[in-house]
Amino acid sequence: MATPEPPIPATFALGVCYYPEHWPRDRWEGYARRMRELGLTYVRIAEFAWSRLEPAPNRWSWAWLDDAIAVLADAGLQVVLCTPTATPPAWLIRQHPEILPWDNEGRVRNFGSRKHYDHASPIYREHSRRITREIAARYGEHPAVVGWQTDNEWGCHGTTRSYGPASRDAFRAWLQQRYHTLADLNDAWGTVFWSQEYTDWRQIDPPNLTVAEPNPCHVLDFARFASDAIATFQEEQVAILRELSPGRWVTHNFMMHFAEFDHYRVAECLDFAAWDSYPLGQVERWPFPDAAKVRWARTGHPDLISWNHDLYRGLKSGRSFWVMEQGAGQVNWAPSNCLPVKGAVALWTAQAQAHGAACVSYFRWRAATVAQELMHSGLLRHDETLDRGGEELQGLEITGRPNPPTPARVALLHDYESLWIYDAQPHSQNASYWGQVMLFYSALRSLGVDVDIRHPDHDLGAYAVVVAPALQLMGSDRAEHLARYAAKARLVFGPRTAYRTPTGRVHGDGPPGPLRPLLGCQLLNFDGLRPGLTVRVGNHIVETWAESYRLLDGEARHTYADGPLAGEPAVVRRGHVTTIGAWGPSLVAETLAAVLAEVGVPITPLPDGVRIARRGTTEVRMNFNQEAVTLPDGSALGPVSFEYRG
Ligand code: GAL
Repeated sequence: MATPEPPIPATFALGVCYYPEHWPRDRWEGYARRMRELGLTYVRIAEFAWSRLEPAPNRWSWAWLDDAIAVLADAGLQVVLCTPTATPPAWLIRQHPEILPWDNEGRVRNFGSRKHYDHASPIYREHSRRITREIAARYGEHPAVVGWQTDNEWGCHGTTRSYGPASRDAFRAWLQQRYHTLADLNDAWGTVFWSQEYTDWRQIDPPNLTVAEPNPCHVLDFARFASDAIATFQEEQVAILRELSPGRWVTHNFMMHFAEFDHYRVAECLDFAAWDSYPLGQVERWPFPDAAKVRWARTGHPDLISWNHDLYRGLKSGRSFWVMEQGAGQVNWAPSNCLPVKGAVALWTAQAQAHGAACVSYFRWRAATVAQELMHSGLLRHDETLDRGGEELQGLEITGRPNPPTPARVALLHDYESLWIYDAQPHSQNASYWGQVMLFYSALRSLGVDVDIRHPDHDLGAYAVVVAPALQLMGSDRAEHLARYAAKARLVFGPRTAYRTPTGRVHGDGPPGPLRPLLGCQLLNFDGLRPGLTVRVGNHIVETWAESYRLLDGEARHTYADGPLAGEPAVVRRGHVTTIGAWGPSLVAETLAAVLAEVGVPITPLPDGVRIARRGTTEVRMNFNQEAVTLPDGSALGPVSFEYRG
């Protein structure tokens, strides 16, 4: 990996998300003072403030925001300002209802919450540029404004894809640019199947409301189109911010495991990435069995959290990221909203720092007394007393630490296009892209290994081991790119690797198509295992998915012990390249451990719920268990705690 740009800020800092417009004016000075007392440096404001900034078309109301920024600046706080486009005001929607997004059931999603717009709407784009220009012209060079956040959580509430006329028309234009001729589109999508052939661009709609499942290639291209629409929507804002706010950085607060747009592409125009971390809500939403949800209900799951740290660091080639919103108590949007155990907020903050964060900013300052989020926690309770999360900040001694790069020798490849096509046809009830990728990621993390998450087409030259758990899309360019690393690094591929061409068809010569010379095998059979049905590879239990290979010049390292694939290769090795076809957690962990050992990447098998991460020369040991644990070297960690070493 290229040397990452220096972190912003240079030493670890804390911040908070704040809504001055929610509170009486006489509270503001006191809040700013208390923020400073808590050790906060940054305050993010105004991402939902459009109706207060422009109460009627072209009638501007800046005085309150001038005042709010001045109060924060006077207290020595630095301001992160936002483009308020996540919440177009009621007057704009009434003027232009065609801005509204449509869901995949063909219904218009109405005004009354947030994110009620279609990114492809030319009218909304005009207004997005207009409000961005206005706010950047006013505050772009304000000395207290140090950076910008675009909009709020692209894709939140299922808003990446809209199925109405604005997206439909833009999708058709996007397809024409991509394929030029309908003959090429028909071929790429395989529309001969079920007489889906198109003879006019205007016959093509978004892939919703079809009688049976839509064509997966159509689904894939619509996903690409919608992702590009977010990217270009944001690029328009960023160009204006660059022009009117020189010397300030621009980021976006991505949200946890959101999957519907290509984060790599969308992050291209940003200075660094930021994300929003709600570990308890994340556990409730993850398809864990109930017992696991109960187990992690008050701490969050260490790997679900750190996956995101590693991802958002990797989006900008290793540059430090921010946690723009760190939950500091219960959320309001999960099916159940538990309180974190004491120590969890401090642990999450240390974990973020250990994985490369330059700043952790808590959500939100004071719990709202109005509207949708009035049951959500803040650093202050409704009555302005310091809440439990806020109290944990008082004892935190992490701020001011240097922010050196993280030293991973292992890369895990992650690709949103493979995710979209995988989840369009999972083929087994419990199979999903995230499930398969997290199987490999958790195995690495449980071995105490630091991981960089990279795009498959990135430069991978710095890594000793490259793990590609679920890379379904494979063209010859990508195959050649990956093959280049096999001389030096060890490569590990997971099930369903290179199943398809870049447009989503199966390779004419069968999977893994152009990757066959590298893998030394050919896909033979695959078995989408129903829940409860397992097969074995040696002593390893395999669930969810099993595939076998016909050997070319590879050699079988493991074969299936039972089931329909008995006797057929489950793990194949050719040179430095290992292919694992079986969804077996212990098989994956054992195979990865052996590969890491070959190249001298040290491993430390860790107790469940314990993780280690390294930042520069510092090692941070973390215990997510609510009981004390003893590590392999005999050292102990208290319940829900962390320890910095070095
Ligand atoms: C985030 C969002 C915030 C707030 C928060 C509540 O996803 O960006 O605006 O809604 O959730 O947990």
